[in-house]
Amino acid sequence: MADYQTFEHDVLVIGSGGAGLRAAIEASATGVSVGLVCKCLLGKAHTVMAEGGIAAALANVDDRDNWKVHFADTMRGGQYVNNWRMAELHAREAPARVRELEAWGAVFDRTPDGRILQRNFGGHKYPRLAHVGDRTGLEMLRTLQDHGVHQGIDVHMECTILTLLKEGDRVVGAFGYEREKGTFRVYRAKAVVLATGGIGRAFKITSNSWDCTGDGHSLAYHAGAELIDMEFVQFHPTGMVWPPSVCGILVTEGVRGEGGVLRNSEGKRFMFGDIPENYRSQTADNEEEGWRYTQGDRDARRPPELLTRDHVARCIVREIKEGRGSPHGGVFLDISWIRKKLSNASEHIKRKLPSMYHQFKQLANIDITAEAMEVGPTTHYIMGGIRVDADTQMSRLPGLFAAGECAAGINGANRLGGNSLSDLLVFGKRAGEYAAQFSRENKTGVVNPGQIEETVSEALESFNRGSKGSAADGNPYEIQYELQRFMQDLVGIVRKETEMTEAIDRITELWIRSKSVAAHGNRQYNPAWHTALDLRSLLTVSEAITVSALNRKESRGGHYRDDYPQKDPALGKLNVVVWKGRDGTIQVRHEPLPEMPDELKGIIEEMK
Ligand code: FUM
Repeated sequence: MADYQTFEHDVLVIGSGGAGLRAAIEASATGVSVGLVCKCLLGKAHTVMAEGGIAAALANVDDRDNWKVHFADTMRGGQYVNNWRMAELHAREAPARVRELEAWGAVFDRTPDGRILQRNFGGHKYPRLAHVGDRTGLEMLRTLQDHGVHQGIDVHMECTILTLLKEGDRVVGAFGYEREKGTFRVYRAKAVVLATGGIGRAFKITSNSWDCTGDGHSLAYHAGAELIDMEFVQFHPTGMVWPPSVCGILVTEGVRGEGGVLRNSEGKRFMFGDIPENYRSQTADNEEEGWRYTQGDRDARRPPELLTRDHVARCIVREIKEGRGSPHGGVFLDISWIRKKLSNASEHIKRKLPSMYHQFKQLANIDITAEAMEVGPTTHYIMGGIRVDADTQMSRLPGLFAAGECAAGINGANRLGGNSLSDLLVFGKRAGEYAAQFSRENKTGVVNPGQIEETVSEALESFNRGSKGSAADGNPYEIQYELQRFMQDLVGIVRKETEMTEAIDRITELWIRSKSVAAHGNRQYNPAWHTALDLRSLLTVSEAITVSALNRKESRGGHYRDDYPQKDPALGKLNVVVWKGRDGTIQVRHEPLPEMPDELKGIIEEMK
């Protein structure tokens, strides 16, 4: 019999980023008992890395903004395969969630008359991102943590969840292990909220933290939930490319929002040469007008650097491929040029972008107030994830809810910058509210000891293998690294059938090899064992991404196919859905998007 500790809560939240904390706060406010379990230390979840801001139509900087414009921007950015109801709820509720955060103590940057300041970001028609310099995620997490901890949420830190416990179809808890000591834990709960964030660690170059291994996606998939839109992975246009040790770290879009421009090795602002038809009327075709826009001129059109991320990332890749890149394989991002425009440019940059200033100074010895940065695309976000009901955030499995990056729908084929922090707040709150309601309406479920025994024996198998595996097939780090490399190369920014088919073969091979990895020593403080256990999530999400990408034979948003470079209008009406079949293999189908009500169609038309 396995040895484990048991905890019991009405609602169990898995993940301590913005969505998890907001869900926990909401559930706990209704009076139910809430446990929050996280893989990292409290305060270190990936939300802490969010820089540029929270998108919400507060209309503090431009009074023409409102939820309808935000809704239309989000749908256009997502190339109309978004879940319209989620996009609507998000746009309508984001302002209230931001004001609430302020009431809980978040200290935002201010307008001269004392309101929350908002900045420009790609794809947003008006300045819409409420921000705290370029450290918005840190402030958001700090505020939510303070609020949640004082509300009596029980926090279980540094614990990795290995499986969701089920009674029939219903999810009745979770089973995992404490990372430091390696001891097992059962969490019984009437409702479970997954808020585990993204999958960036399945790729070699990423802005994501070490723990973004797709755990929630994988837990839900193996428990029987459906994943949608997994082909849509966002490559943020600007990550650091040099030095190698920090390659992929985010360089906030806020740099471009504050006037930063992209240039190639010939000194040319190449984005002027590639403005898509549907953005042409809103995009400046000259330097002067773009600058005026960033300075708040309401009549000016936005600079082309603030087109959507999918487009900007592809333009950067083109420049690099065609030999006009920077010395370390990126392009140049220059904010120092604003010295020509502002007498206090250096102070201005340090005040608006303090983290960027320090990041480049300390990591690359670059003074961004005087020199250009070198940047290139980095795996940043997955639009796809667990299929949930738009209003309640419940998955197809009773008792299992999901919010934030591990849930899908709101962003469609491409997320606009800043929409993820507002997504965390809006849908974290909703998930918490409905999970609490579910927990009041249902008794604690029965945990199946057989499921626990099976999970324990799988988790400990790598120790039994001892030194049997050869160096080539027995090393979990090697498998992880190999996966990251070929996902980047074969299922990255530009995709094609032959390469993705090769990726599927290699994933199949790695699944086999992952069953022979060996962990040495004991369960305490054993990072190789943690890595061995992470492989299941990484391989699951990689397979889901690749199968979905093979099944979308067109280019749309974050999914660009060299062999199908155009949009296919028929596929613009469908989601790709994947799930685990009875035989354990991945299944896939296309499913029509729900019909949008005429009122919302009218809003989109009006905004066009
Ligand atoms: O560029 C950024 O600051 C990223 C923001 C986001 O992904 O929402």
